[in-house]
Amino acid sequence: MELCSITGLKGSVTVPGDKSISHRCIMFGSIADGITEVRNFLKGADCLATIRCFRSLGIEIEEKDTAVVVHGKGLHGLSAPDSILDVGNSGTTTRLLSGILAGQPFESKLSGDESLNSRPMKRIMTPLTQMGAHISSILRNGCAPLYIAPSRLHGIHYDSPVASAQVKSCLLLAGLYAEGETSVTEPSLSRNHTELMLREFGADICTTHALDSTKATASIRTCTNLFGQKITVPGDISSAAYFIAAGLIVPDSEIMIENVGINPTRAGILKVCEDMGGNITLLNERTEGGEKIADILVKTSTLHGITIEGDIIPALIDEIPVIAVMAAVAEGTTIIKDAAELKVKETDRIETVTDNLKAMGCKVTPTSDGMIITGGKLKGASIHTLLDHRIAMAFSIAALVAEGNTKILDSKCVDVSYPTFYDTFEQLL
Ligand code: S3P
Repeated sequence: MELCSITGLKGSVTVPGDKSISHRCIMFGSIADGITEVRNFLKGADCLATIRCFRSLGIEIEEKDTAVVVHGKGLHGLSAPDSILDVGNSGTTTRLLSGILAGQPFESKLSGDESLNSRPMKRIMTPLTQMGAHISSILRNGCAPLYIAPSRLHGIHYDSPVASAQVKSCLLLAGLYAEGETSVTEPSLSRNHTELMLREFGADICTTHALDSTKATASIRTCTNLFGQKITVPGDISSAAYFIAAGLIVPDSEIMIENVGINPTRAGILKVCEDMGGNITLLNERTEGGEKIADILVKTSTLHGITIEGDIIPALIDEIPVIAVMAAVAEGTTIIKDAAELKVKETDRIETVTDNLKAMGCKVTPTSDGMIITGGKLKGASIHTLLDHRIAMAFSIAALVAEGNTKILDSKCVDVSYPTFYDTFEQLL
């Protein structure tokens, strides 16, 4: 994809359904009794991998024009897959599905692409093993492919060293099948879609926040039944983030992004934009299915650098590539700290972001847990996405304010979370 600088992005757009919520609708619907009907499901490669896996586990899932319909078979209705489960590029599929598979009376194996198979899985293997699960890394390198054998699970309390919704959700899902109570404390609250949605499906789930620290705990008890739901997935704030950034940094722009999920555990980008001086307004705020939603209006603004650190990081972890792009054209210096988790995403995003910003002429220094960016002017470059969807989209926004042409290599990787990204873009020209 070749892009160049532009001005005057105007209009209203909607973004596809939330990726995290779409995954969970398929998973929870599959192990619930009855039908789960999902509107505005994200048909991106990651969520399609989740559908593929649950079909291999014997679940009928219909992809209609208006909805995805999951014919749930109950907590004990999954059947042994014929072959290795292909999780593609999706960490969420791998880690949440492992929690469910740990409680099944059959063997399974799961494996993904090169990036997925190099991401850390010990973070789920260690606590699942403490619960009595038989889970191992087939190549003994702490990564997928994973092998899971039947076992009897028992509840544990797990003090997670990382604020990770994937780890938390994996354990809560295993907890559905475990004797007694399973609880997870994380250093700060990560996205809480599992807690909100499992409660809607009928699970006995409890959440508490420490009064004297940022720690958060979620606990679940063994469950006998979940019940199918009708769900409309809100627009994905992680996808909206690219249009928020474009609206703020492209001169003479005004963009409305409609129906975006603004769950506080995901909405860190909104606060960062405000703190950077962005003109951003939430309209028509409402709550649907336990999730907060709003329309977001952004107008071109003069941004300035800030420090982004601490417990806001989990609420914007996937948006850091595009926040870094905003910082690269803001006045002054932006410091991003406490974000070492970036190293274990689809790529090492400290490296992919800083390498590509440098290629565009930005003054940027990678650190062990983030980066330091001094704002200025960008110039066009060849962007090495390394097949990371968020790098492709973030640097497509950078291209719009860079002098000269920018080439996004392997731009098709946007399919992972936002197959229609470049089409939505054209609506604003
Ligand atoms: C996700 C959780 C986050 C996020 C990922 C989706 C989820 O990962 O980066 O894109 O749906 O639970 P971690 O939980 O590993 O931080």
